[in-house]
Amino acid sequence: MSVGGLVLFGLVTEVVLPVWTVQEAGVASQVACASRCSQHDACGGFQWNSSSCFLVVVASVPGAVNGAMTNAFRLNSYRTNYHLYEFPPPPGGIDPANALATCRNNSMDLVPYPVTLKDRASLSIRQTRRLFVDMIRASDGSYVTLSSGVPVPNTAIYGWMPGSPDGGIGRCIGMGGPDLLFFDFNCSYTTTNAGVICVYSTLQ
Ligand SMILES: *[C@@H]1O[C@H](CO)[C@@H](O)[C@H](O)[C@H]1NC(C)=O
Ligand SMILES: *[C@@H]1O[C@H](CO)[C@@H](O)[C@H](O)[C@H]1NC(C)=O
Ligand SMILES: *[C@@H]1O[C@H](CO)[C@@H](O)[C@H](O)[C@H]1NC(C)=O
Repeated sequence: MSVGGLVLFGLVTEVVLPVWTVQEAGVASQVACASRCSQHDACGGFQWNSSSCFLVVVASVPGAVNGAMTNAFRLNSYRTNYHLYEFPPPPGGIDPANALATCRNNSMDLVPYPVTLKDRASLSIRQTRRLFVDMIRASDGSYVTLSSGVPVPNTAIYGWMPGSPDGGIGRCIGMGGPDLLFFDFNCSYTTTNAGVICVYSTLQ
């Protein structure tokens, strides 16, 4: 979110997967570290360890290293006018319809696919291995939003997890792994591997 230039980060604990990071030199404070992340076009969060600044970035950033970071400040600004909200992992697992319903029942929307490198990097900081995105494969093989059937460009899918797409059988679309790749699966599956990340609109 960006309101009058203010960018919001939120602390995420129990981050489940390793993230890609680069260390920034010459940073004197946590606020300065947050500012470095805001200015970096592939940064979605950061960690300040009282003397060093680590930016959470996408894998393609030169020098990025993959490693565990169990706590990080996540950039909750998403796309141009959304704010991310992550529910704790549902204990009994969840399916896409209930993920969508969870968001809607709380006046939010299911997270749409990431557009920018910053969006990708911020979604790499999360409490579950996988997440459902607001996307479904239509019967003609194109992609539309699960929530309202709005077309999604094929180019939104920048990479599939190993084994996906599964012959185009699964209609629901999710994302997962440290590199936030796409996967398809049967919409009626309830899984304990996926969490619920919602978005709400913010003022510009
Ligand atoms: C912070 O990270 C730097 C670089 O990895 C390390 O040298 C330093 O010991 C760490 N400081 C703390 C307090 O963990
Ligand atoms: C959403 O709200 C409806 C209506 O109150 C309720 O029946 C449903 O169980 C709720 N679903 C979730 C996932 O919260
Ligand atoms: C999805 O799962 C349901 C319930 O297990 C099953 O009835 C259905 O045939 C599956 N669909 C596909 C396309 O595999």
